Amino acid sequence: MLIAQISDTHITTLDDADAKFPERVKNLEAFVRHINALDEKPDLVMHTGDVTHGGKPEYYETVKNVVKHLSVPVYFARGNRDISENLVDALKDFGGGNIVDGFLIYSIDGFPVRLIAMDTHNRESNIGTTCSVRLGILDGLLKEQPDTPTALFMHHPPFEVPTSKYPFQFDDQVLADAFLDLVSEHKQIAHLFCGHMHRHFKVDLETCSASCVPSLPVDNRLGEFADEMDGKPLYQLHRWNAKNKSFETELCAVDGGN
Ligand SMILES: [Fe+2]
Repeated sequence: MLIAQISDTHITTLDDADAKFPERVKNLEAFVRHINALDEKPDLVMHTGDVTHGGKPEYYETVKNVVKHLSVPVYFARGNRDISENLVDALKDFGGGNIVDGFLIYSIDGFPVRLIAMDTHNRESNIGTTCSVRLGILDGLLKEQPDTPTALFMHHPPFEVPTSKYPFQFDDQVLADAFLDLVSEHKQIAHLFCGHMHRHFKVDLETCSASCVPSLPVDNRLGEFADEMDGKPLYQLHRWNAKNKSFETELCAVDGGN
């Protein structure tokens, strides 16, 4: 199984007076062309949130008009800059996604690894959080298939990213621990795929591994990258190694991104 992960596209609209970064749309268009031209295409694209910068329906229309050209399904997790209802209205037909008790949490089945989109949105701030309702929904999904290798994809990392200026992006350690305790109770979870940090990071947790992907747009990514990646949108390819029950990740650049 091969997954392409993108994140933090923070799209508005090209003709919106508030649009500060129309090149982000061009970066996403270049990514779509790039994926469609690959000899070995990923099974799916997952977007780990902040699809738009503000969640207006017309912003998702902009995204829709780009990703509709993708030749593989694309799935979305909610970021702090997204509005779930508008996201699902515009984009669910490309992959899936439904809102349960107000939270965008759903599974993607039928692949060697089951994927679950987790909602880490915080109504009070831009950092992540969780709650008993969400943990209950996730626990229920995980109990459905305890023997199927599973990966979660979500916006906010519930762990510290020490290379960041703002390393801890979860409400507090108690809630992060509650989340991670649930993860460690379900041994089928192989990996947590996160966004939000706009930078690459990987860490081994108690019972699984976890990572953050650099943002796709050139203008808002953070961290150090090889010179040949200058000016190119970035994404990650995650290849499932069934023998090791883990993902092997490759950082990839998109040519002709602007
Ligand atoms: Fe974010």
